[in-house]
Amino acid sequence: MTTAAKIPSRESAAQRLHVVGTGFDVEKIRRDFPILSREIRGKKLVYLDNAATAQKPRAVIEAISRYYEQGNANVHRGVHFLSEHATGEHERARRRVQRFINAPHASEIIFVRGATEAINLVAQTYGRVHVSAGDEVLITAMEHHSNIVPWQILCEEKGAKLRVAPINDDGELLLDEFEKLLGPRTKIVAVSHVSNALGTHKMFGPIGIGVLFGKSALLEDMPPYQGGGDMISSVTFEKTIYNKLPFKFEAGTPNVAGAIALGAAIEYLNRLGMDNIAAYEHELLAYATEKISAIPGVRLIGTARERAGVLSFVIEGIHPHDVGTVLDQEGIAIRTGHHCAQPVMQRFGVPATARASFALYNTKDEVDVLAEGILKVQEVFA
Ligand SMILES: Cc1ncc(COP(=O)(O)O)c(C=O)c1O
Repeated sequence: MTTAAKIPSRESAAQRLHVVGTGFDVEKIRRDFPILSREIRGKKLVYLDNAATAQKPRAVIEAISRYYEQGNANVHRGVHFLSEHATGEHERARRRVQRFINAPHASEIIFVRGATEAINLVAQTYGRVHVSAGDEVLITAMEHHSNIVPWQILCEEKGAKLRVAPINDDGELLLDEFEKLLGPRTKIVAVSHVSNALGTHKMFGPIGIGVLFGKSALLEDMPPYQGGGDMISSVTFEKTIYNKLPFKFEAGTPNVAGAIALGAAIEYLNRLGMDNIAAYEHELLAYATEKISAIPGVRLIGTARERAGVLSFVIEGIHPHDVGTVLDQEGIAIRTGHHCAQPVMQRFGVPATARASFALYNTKDEVDVLAEGILKVQEVFA
């Protein structure tokens, strides 16, 4: 019997309309992402590495080129037209982020490079003030390195202890164990919203921009992270008075184009509707889970009931890097390795996984292509 016979059959054309809810038409959405029409190695690109970085819609790409073609200037520092305009756009993007995450105040939105910088900022400011010898920082066993290492650095510096809440074999947090680890010495709890190795989401904004949200009272209480321009209100050699929020935490020239394009990404997502996107991605993940897990020799890593669009898997007897290399020849882009989550790999007893991660522009056809690619991998290494 061929392995292909065990894969659930392809859907009918009618079932493949890829329309979920009113106005969510994936074929139309795909046209918003220029890179998706590329061919890779003579094959149609099947981009399934969205957990590493999602592709960018034309609205985001155009926001960046418009800024550099028409609006480039440094912000907050000039009285000339372009500087004032760039400042206005930068702050408009901040308000867009505020509304998107439903934050009470725009001043609670700090622009950073990404999640890594945001976590280091909190560890080095709030952490340094509030964590002392004997205190504890609580994380979970499914964290990305960026939510482990900054706390290790802090704990080493302060003589504090890093505690790790365990997960079960499906990759779910054991809440009872988590609660048991909460105690009077717990000063910080740092938990990722979704594990990137076992299930994640991305925003379609440009690389190199991210956001830290903090409540005003906490941010006011924290010392600055980096010193330099923009984060000051006045400087003398004797004393520096720091700027108000959010600028206190934004030293130096910010990524103005990135912030503006992040605002464009938010506008794009809002137009499509987050509920529609979530429904579509869940449907796609359910289809992919059924299809890929039905292939003999494939084992999914991370089978939690509540998951976002990530399918991590290993194929019996074949190293994940070899899986990725053969799939690449088919134009299929997935990620292989430890996904910056080595403790997660250790927990599941694997050195690495192959990871297909989905976004709103992926289709069931592409899942089928992935399934066929996996069969080809198995043939090559048979
Ligand atoms: C769950 C999770 N945490 C942290 C990070 C680190 O984010 P960044 O590389 O933007 O700093 C990532 C990146 O993919 C992630 O998926």
